[in-house]
Amino acid sequence: MPVIAVIGAQWGDEGKGKVVDLLAQKAGVVARFSGGDNAGHTVINPHGEFRLHLIPSGIFSPRTVCIIGNGVVINPAVLLDEIDQLNQCGVNTSNLFISDRAHLIMPYHTLLDGLEEESRAGKALGTTRKGIGPAFTDKAARLGIRTGDLLDKEAFLEQLRFALDYKNTILTKIYGASPLSLDEVYAQYCQYGERLAAHIRETDIMVEEALNRGELVILEGAQGTLLDPDFGTYPYTTSSSPLASGGCLGAGISPTKISRILGVFKAYCTRVGSGPIPTELKDETGDLIRERAHEYGTTTGRPRRCGWFDGVAARFSTRINGFTGVAVTRLDVLDILPRLKICVGYKLNEKTIDYFPSRVSTLEKCQPIYEELEGWQTPISDIRQYEQLPPQARQYIARLEELTSCPVNLISVGAERGQTIMRHDIL
Ligand code: GDP
Ligand code: IMO
Ligand code: MG
Repeated sequence: MPVIAVIGAQWGDEGKGKVVDLLAQKAGVVARFSGGDNAGHTVINPHGEFRLHLIPSGIFSPRTVCIIGNGVVINPAVLLDEIDQLNQCGVNTSNLFISDRAHLIMPYHTLLDGLEEESRAGKALGTTRKGIGPAFTDKAARLGIRTGDLLDKEAFLEQLRFALDYKNTILTKIYGASPLSLDEVYAQYCQYGERLAAHIRETDIMVEEALNRGELVILEGAQGTLLDPDFGTYPYTTSSSPLASGGCLGAGISPTKISRILGVFKAYCTRVGSGPIPTELKDETGDLIRERAHEYGTTTGRPRRCGWFDGVAARFSTRINGFTGVAVTRLDVLDILPRLKICVGYKLNEKTIDYFPSRVSTLEKCQPIYEELEGWQTPISDIRQYEQLPPQARQYIARLEELTSCPVNLISVGAERGQTIMRHDIL
């Protein structure tokens, strides 16, 4: 059985949760490998409608082991809440395991995320304010505290004392904020540790064992390629890698083991937070897409900025990840539009370019070059066979295949698990 990475190919919210929920039914393991509760993965299936922030979208498949890998930063309060909510809906979470190497989001991380954003004033990054950047900063600075550390309370107290001393100096001296109490944070995190202890494991070993048993392993991406700190629109990015290669590091799996990389694209573009989108629609078509598709952030509720499909960015994303196949979601959202545009190049200083510039200041100067296609103007959400899609919709998909040089394996025509057209066998 293969290892398949399901990767956000744009700026996040492409519908990864829906795709993973669908594929997970055959999986032995589903592992999240990056980000934290900045992610919001919507799953609508026979169990109900869920917005998952930390728990993998495979949790609804009863025999699947769900792993929160070492590459994820975990806010234990959010995780425990999510576990409780799922349990209340009758979803079993005893198959959920957390890497002992995953770093914790501490109260000072969330505080500092907000304070840093405010200090940037007009240049705020538009983070989710969940403490993600500060937690990954501490990981790199070797100041982080990991889930496994909660299992040794004495050692944890010393780690926390050291970190909190330093963080309280920053909170009080730089930001004029109140310090955090060592006793309170310690007591609270010890409680979290007691509740989470049963879930904390060396999860990379669990992944290896599943592979040895020949089971399907799904690496569930969070965020999107263009939010990658190296290849995204830096500094308007997140702080861990959403790329397929990030899946190896964040789940503890060798690159030689990954056999399929599925890039999830929306049929158009959206972005929540600051930073450029070359094809952004600041007109009534953008508003129409936002309202029709209810494009508001799953995690923060912020309106998502909408734009036409960007073929230049898509080609870049395909190359940097090495997609072996593509899933196109939300094709049904385009049902009402008489004409559709796809960006096939950028105009930069009177020249045509076909690459995605590395610098935001260059990207901001790029004018999209569009190709126009006819819309299908008929509802497609009930269609399950590719051949039954209107010819204009098939043309649209064919153009995306040409632009990405990748087969479109799966087309999503609605938010529910079943509203899917499987074209080729992804696995
Ligand atoms: P993720 O972060 O990549 O998992 O995506 P989100 O869940 O944040 O955002 C995707 C949104 O699109 C959610 O509201 C989904 O329920 C919805 N969705 C997913 N696929 C489709 C689709 O094919 N059509 C429609 N109309 N909605 C979809
Ligand atoms: P999913 O997994 C969309 C964006 C934020 C912000 C930037 C940095 O649901 O696709 P951060 O809090 O990570 O420091 O914010 O990244 N962002 C996302 N946008 N979907 C996500 O996750 C995102 N996770 C982070 O809006 O622009
Ligand atoms: Mg999301």
